[in-house]
Parts: sequence; C-alpha cells; structure tokens
Amino acid sequence: TTRLIIDTDTAGDDCFSLLLGLLHPNASLEAVTICNGNVAFDLQVENALHTIEVAGRGGEVPVYLGSARPLMGRWRAASYHGSNGMSEMVFEKAKQRPEAKHAIDAIIDLVMANPGEISIIAQAPLTNIALAYLKEPRIAKALKQLWIMGGTDNAVGNVTPAAEFNFYVDPEAAKIVLEAGFNVTLSTWTLTLSSGFFHADTIERIAGLGTKLSQFYMDVSQTPMKTAKERYGAIMNTHPDSLTTAMAIDEDLILESAEVVVEMEVGGETTRGFSAVYPAGMVEGWEKKTPNARIVRKADTAGFADMLISVLK
Ligand code: BDR
Ligand code: CA
Repeated sequence: TTRLIIDTDTAGDDCFSLLLGLLHPNASLEAVTICNGNVAFDLQVENALHTIEVAGRGGEVPVYLGSARPLMGRWRAASYHGSNGMSEMVFEKAKQRPEAKHAIDAIIDLVMANPGEISIIAQAPLTNIALAYLKEPRIAKALKQLWIMGGTDNAVGNVTPAAEFNFYVDPEAAKIVLEAGFNVTLSTWTLTLSSGFFHADTIERIAGLGTKLSQFYMDVSQTPMKTAKERYGAIMNTHPDSLTTAMAIDEDLILESAEVVVEMEVGGETTRGFSAVYPAGMVEGWEKKTPNARIVRKADTAGFADMLISVLK
C-alpha cells in the first residue's frame, strides 16, 4: 500500500488524481492539502470536498487549508477548467468541512510521525511543500517519495514557452523544494504530452461505464475537452495529475526515466518558471552536479487508462 498525502489545487484532473488516491486498493490517502493554483482558493476547497463525497468517502479523509497565494509569484486563475474549476458543474456543498490545522502543519506532523512511510503527490504550485520544508527541514529525509507534477523537460510549457503552470505560478517554491534533498520524481508537462492524454477511444470507454463516477468524469471534463476540440479538432482530455498518482501507486507504469539535475529559473522575464534539465552528459561537464530528481520520460498510457477506469467503475 502506498500511503499518500495529495497536495492539490483541486480542479479538473486534480479530481481524478484524488479519486485514484481515495479508491484504488493499493493506495491509502491520509490527507488532502489545498494550495493556491487553478481557481479561487475557496472553490478549490469545495471541489476537493465534493470529490471525496462523490467517491463515497465523505468524512473519512481530512482536508487541510494551505497557502492561498504563492511566495512571490502573481496568482491569476487559469480558465482551462472553467470558472469554478469543474466545467461549471453545479453541486451541493459537501457535508465534510476542512480541518482547523494548517496544511503545512498537517504535512509536517504526518511525515514526522511516520518516517520513511509517507509519499506526497504535489500536483499544484509548490508553496505548501516549500513552506513545510522551511518550517521543518527534516521532512526532506523523513518523506518516502515526493512526486511532483510540474515543469517541462526542456520543452515548451503550457503557460509560456518556458514554463508549465505549477512551476510558473510559484517558481521560488519549486526552487526551494528541488534544492531541499527530497527523493523527487518529476512528472512534467512534457510527459503529459507524450503519455498523459486520453483520446476518443478511452473517453468513449469511460462514458460507456454508466456509473456515478464516470458521469462525474464527463461533467468535470466538459470545458477542457471543449478547448481541446477547438484547438486540435479532436476528442481528447489531459491527465497531468492523475498520471502522476497512478505512477506513484504502480511504478511499473514508468517505462523510461533518468536521474537528472533540475534547476529553476526564477529571475528571467520571459523564462521565469523554466525548469532547466541537465542531460546526463552535461552533469559531468564543467561543473559536477549531483542529480536531484528522477525524471519520467515515458509512461504506460494504456495501463494508466485501465487503472483510472477500474476506479471509475
Ligand atoms: C498543472 O496545472 C494545472 O492546471 C493542473 O491542475 C496541473 O496540475 C498542469 O500544468
Ligand atoms: Ca493540479
């Protein structure tokens, strides 16, 4: 069993990642922590609580409120998942309410009480993780694995040519976290493009399930799927966060990976939020650098789809 904390700016695919943590038999989701990101903070909180309720686990997994703003970055809602992050789906407020303890303390307490046991899926800007580390640096070694969805593999981002959303919103936090000595696996936007897209056949399979959760998937995905249709003329949906959680639950889904050095650009005007990934050869170049992350280069998309579908059933 993989014991997990999911740190999330809950909207769109964040929800499906939560469903994997909540319902996969090999996962034990022990806390959900909310971070600034996709849409207004309070909406993200309700989206997470609603997702837990839809999964039939209302009241069973605590939700903690974290940083409503990035350290230095200027936050602005992303429109990709609709104005409420849920493709304008309207739902009743969940019965479960957030805990009083701050997300940063929840992370520290859970990790320090269970050294070597807990892994975090960081699928939002890294503000909460950076602040938890600054408050209690020992979490870097006490945490089992830190799975980060963020950055690109020296490729074009989804917010600017240089930057992916999570790293763009809080590059300083990403820098702090990448330099902290966590056992990091990086699941980038570049990986999403190669291995984290579902196409018409998979989406039809999901729609055909006819379950409450398959309906939830279709409802939450309306706006991103509409955008994809306009942009690419095809039926598709993007799964950066849920792919990351799927790999954490079953590492056999990782088909190709490498130990690399990743450095954050925080100063650039047009390149702020860029994650510079040193190719293996360059690490041995002018300056010897110690790898600080495992980067995933290829994942098993079919296996990932089967996993998500097994949960939506
Ligand atoms: C990331 O940005 C957000 O929009 C998604 O939730 C995902 O975590 C992808 O760049
Ligand atoms: Ca996210």
